[in-house]
Amino acid sequence: MPHIVAKNIEVPQLPLNRGEFEYLWVAKALNGDEQLVGVRYKDLRFLLKIKPKEGRYVIKGDKITRPAPTYILKEALKNFCEAARCEVLYDNLSTIKPSHVQKAREFLKDIDYFIHQFPKHKEVWIEVGFGSGRHLLYQAKTHPDILFVGIEVHKPSIEQLLGQIALQKLDNILVLDYDARLFMEFVPSNIVGKIFVHFPVPWDKKPHRRVISKAFLTEAKRVLKPGGVLELRTDSKNYFDYALEIFLDEPKAKMEVTKNIEPPISSKYEDRWVRLGKDIYDIRFENLESSEELVLDMDFSFKGGTQKETLIKLMGQTKVYDDYFVHFHKLYEIDEKRYLMELSFGSFDRPEHKYLLMQEDTIEYFPKPPVPSKANKKAHIKIEEALHA
Ligand SMILES: C[S@@+](CC[C@H](N)C(=O)[O-])C[C@H]1O[C@@H](n2cnc3c(N)ncnc32)[C@H](O)[C@@H]1O
Repeated sequence: MPHIVAKNIEVPQLPLNRGEFEYLWVAKALNGDEQLVGVRYKDLRFLLKIKPKEGRYVIKGDKITRPAPTYILKEALKNFCEAARCEVLYDNLSTIKPSHVQKAREFLKDIDYFIHQFPKHKEVWIEVGFGSGRHLLYQAKTHPDILFVGIEVHKPSIEQLLGQIALQKLDNILVLDYDARLFMEFVPSNIVGKIFVHFPVPWDKKPHRRVISKAFLTEAKRVLKPGGVLELRTDSKNYFDYALEIFLDEPKAKMEVTKNIEPPISSKYEDRWVRLGKDIYDIRFENLESSEELVLDMDFSFKGGTQKETLIKLMGQTKVYDDYFVHFHKLYEIDEKRYLMELSFGSFDRPEHKYLLMQEDTIEYFPKPPVPSKANKKAHIKIEEALHA
């Protein structure tokens, strides 16, 4: 994480414009000694954190609002420290040229891209948890007219795949660092030809973390076009039985089950299991019906403002509901009329971490509204109720 360690810092009068950066305000923790500086850069908003530590100050980007690519944060830190006359003792801000960053990351998209501009010009095939990427790269080379979306949560695998995409000059793979189970909620209906779930983590002790579930199947059926296929491949008999039961629970279903059939390309995992003499199971679940169009409810606005006393009462409170939660963390004060509150909410598997910015009679999510997932919508209603209590 880029940061600066300084002996002294004099926070300048804000707001302050410096080059392309606008430093908006400074918010002081009510229970604690850190300060947050609001920054605007083009259409991005984020926070810098100033934390006193052993007679020095550590100035870094705030994790929740961290902008991408990293060079923006490095420039914002450098620029702010110049304005704040920091006596710098140490920094790790050597800048990578934006053009390099841009090139390597061209195929890495964030979840907002898929929510607002999901590419629909081509048939889409999705691979969940691509790992080494061997299968995804093979499929993308074999089917140049298909647009592939690879989803992973393991960052080294993502880096490795991005390198291979550039090396092999492929232009039909988009990569997303996100939980595939939530991603499915944002995929338009009837546009996907195949969904590959190959060797998912069995999670025998924590089955709620499995990729395949009743909810996942419901979304898979919605996004698959009629005739589209969800393909599960696993070495775990336990996972196979579990998934088959979910698939058979559907009122109408068509599927093909095979065992130890050689695939066109085998993954690293598969090679290992085959070497160990394990059986490999496949289920190909075919979608039979066309689904209604997806409509995402994007309204995360608040009606009216709130009171400081309400915010103080909410600090540290957690509210847990069936399949979502809301937790109010720290409160920061900008001035008598403006506050910033850190909170997390939504699904237990993929919680949202945000701030609420309260100015005069308005409340908004900072730096931007949450993703329009079902869990976030439900949590938003509870947050609004709590703020207006
Ligand atoms: C056992 S590996 C299999 C990798 C690859 N499919 C193969 O066959 O070699 C499972 C992969 O799924 C990823 N994964 C697990 N849960 C995930 C989720 N909810 N969303 C996206 N990826 C996930 C893991 O990071 C891991 O790379």
